[in-house]
Amino acid sequence: MDDINEKGAVATPESDFYKESLVLFEGAISEILTRIDIIRRYFVATGRRDPVEYCKARVKTPQSTKNKLVSRGLEPTYENALEHLNDVAGTRVVCTFVDDVYSVVDMIKKQDDLVILNEKDYIRDPKPNGYRSYHMIVRVPIHLPEGMTYVTAEIQLRTLAMDCWAALEHRIKYKRDVPHKEMIRDELKRCADEIASTDLTLKTLRDVIDKME
Ligand code: GTP
Ligand code: MG
Repeated sequence: MDDINEKGAVATPESDFYKESLVLFEGAISEILTRIDIIRRYFVATGRRDPVEYCKARVKTPQSTKNKLVSRGLEPTYENALEHLNDVAGTRVVCTFVDDVYSVVDMIKKQDDLVILNEKDYIRDPKPNGYRSYHMIVRVPIHLPEGMTYVTAEIQLRTLAMDCWAALEHRIKYKRDVPHKEMIRDELKRCADEIASTDLTLKTLRDVIDKME
């Protein structure tokens, strides 16, 4: 069984590159997911609406971590990934309404053992292509046998509609020789703006319906 290493653990392309730091990146992801899950279940338990539709998470593939390190002039090692990259551990929180994004952001900020390194509000200031999302870079405390260490992770928060748009846009973003690329780009930009306007209308309608109940 050559996929079992001498320590008895299953070897994968991820663990081959990340070594023991894979536990740290996966640990940061499960910390964030657990914290969001507790908040969601507490909302439901107290008779309130769950603001989150679903969460997704991933550890960046070894290849794209290596590419990013090399493009920054760094040796492609897991030590450099731990020290210099913010998005090896990535979590995405997809919310129902646009104000839900901000309330989840506030709840994350209240967790004062998380250190917020950086925030970018691409909902208030969309990218030129129309991309919208709220990005946070956080340091997550992870408890190891030797004591506590911080692991940096990225949290992206967006609405369902923004998530659908970003998934589609991502598919053509890095493609070369796309026919009608200019037209597709213009249409995506138009869709992004319509989605932003629809997200606001949905929130307003929700408030109206809430008041009726
Ligand atoms: P990088 O991760 O190196 O790009 O750092 P950065 O500081 O430029 O981060 P930025 O906040 O611009 O983007 C971080 C992540 O957000 C990306 O890795 C994507 O997952 C997502 N993202 C940013 N811009 C876009 C975009 O235009 N389209 C899509 N689909 N995703 C985007
Ligand atoms: Mg990134």
